[in-house]
Amino acid sequence: MEKVLELKNIVKRYGQVPVLKGVDFDLYAGEVHAIVGQNGAGKSTLMKILAGVITDYEGTEVLKGKPVRFRSAGEAQAHGIGMVHQELSVILKLSVAENLFIGTPGGKKTFVNWWEMENKARQLLKDFGLERINVKRPLGSYLLGIQQMIEIIRTIHSGAKIIIMDEPTSALSPPEVKRLFELISRLKQAGTSIIFISHFLDDVLDIADRITVLRDGRKITTLENKEINKAELIRLMLGSSEGINENTEIELSASEKEPILEIKDLSCRRLFRDVAFSVGKGEVVGLFGYMGAGHMELPRVLFGLEVPEKGRVILQGKEVKIKSPGHARSLGLAYAPESRKKALCLTKPIYANITLPFLATIGRFVNNRTRELEISRQLIERTSLRPPKPLLNVGNLSGGNQQKVSVSRWLPTHPIVFILSEPTRGMDIGAKEEIINLVRDLKAQGMGIIVASSEPETIFALADRILVFSKGKIVHEFKQGKVNKELLFQYA
Ligand SMILES: Nc1ncnc2c1ncn2[C@@H]1O[C@H](COP(=O)(O)OP(=O)(O)O)[C@@H](O)[C@H]1O
Ligand SMILES: [Mg+2]
Repeated sequence: MEKVLELKNIVKRYGQVPVLKGVDFDLYAGEVHAIVGQNGAGKSTLMKILAGVITDYEGTEVLKGKPVRFRSAGEAQAHGIGMVHQELSVILKLSVAENLFIGTPGGKKTFVNWWEMENKARQLLKDFGLERINVKRPLGSYLLGIQQMIEIIRTIHSGAKIIIMDEPTSALSPPEVKRLFELISRLKQAGTSIIFISHFLDDVLDIADRITVLRDGRKITTLENKEINKAELIRLMLGSSEGINENTEIELSASEKEPILEIKDLSCRRLFRDVAFSVGKGEVVGLFGYMGAGHMELPRVLFGLEVPEKGRVILQGKEVKIKSPGHARSLGLAYAPESRKKALCLTKPIYANITLPFLATIGRFVNNRTRELEISRQLIERTSLRPPKPLLNVGNLSGGNQQKVSVSRWLPTHPIVFILSEPTRGMDIGAKEEIINLVRDLKAQGMGIIVASSEPETIFALADRILVFSKGKIVHEFKQGKVNKELLFQYA
């Protein structure tokens, strides 16, 4: 097969930190070449270099035998390289039709009028089985999966001969994934090359001709699909570069606990379907999955931020219909979401953030700052918040300390069930340890706890039982015996 592209000895640093340490990569005409690797391995960075998005790097890029050095994404596009980004680059305010043609070579300018452009858009969507989409509506009024499809179709339509897809399936529903794969087959037939990045190794093994494994900024190997199986692929991805202080394997021995929260056949749009499990008194249930798996969305339903269309939630034996976050709080639910920025008022002092859930529960009939400060001081001491200054704005704290506020402020409300999403993301080892101890304290007090995370280490540190989510469903439960990352990734 004809080699259309070669990257040689690519080095990329952010400041002093090298994130690509001499990576080679090549691509044949009409091939699907998958790139796999853990979060942070450097997959997106390598692809952004190829697509002209990142321009300061070392190494060479050879396109059809000629060295090239793109100075912009536009230049890469002009050379037939298109990228579907992990973070979508569509414009939500513009119509579907505009999104399809704007910024692509032979795009909007070539149309005589809107009518012609919209007609062309309809034709194009029909080719992809998406005729039910109204091309005049703003793209933002459609779900993420559709937005993703539009971005993919736009890239294909732009005439790219090399198409990079960075995590294209995480926002897609199963029928859409199927359609995308059919599309990829058609593109292959036409000689287009596809670079396919995904966490879903089953998908990768389904569709790739060759697979390159990146780990920690290095290329570990490139293999023919038929030379490898899933377990081996996982082993290559993880390698031996594990953190020393992190649990990489745990032994579970969950016992039957009196359930305080039961979730039955809960479905919410395309976020997750038919989810059922229970949480016992003094039990931590870990929800693990990749981005978009549904485990991070479930807490939003439990806290009244999304309305489920089906299913039941039973709290302490009584069915509840959770209508809003305020209602959830009054029922005894607490929630520390993954985004501290959204959870906290960064421009308000620590004490005001700490007492927010508490005051919301008891009602703001006493506006007693002395009492608020007293409660805050107790929590600040208990969590060793640094600096221990209740009047300081929360926005001035480090991420780890903000997280302590976001978690610990629920303690005075004595919740029945505490839900935490990514409680230790982006924290240093010390701060992680403190959050983990805090959660263990709550568990010892008999609280039911749900921890949703995409980091195995966090789940391993806390969970009594682990539910693995994949594409909106619970696909496996671990409650006894050894669990390690390999096993989690097998199911996710
Ligand atoms: N703009 C940036 N500034 C500093 N570091 C970055 C930036 N973008 C990515 N990184 C770091 O580079 C590494 C590789 O990131 P990325 O290529 O996104 O990995 P992957 O796509 O494999 O998950 C990570 O450690 C990430 O934190
Ligand atoms: Mg990435």
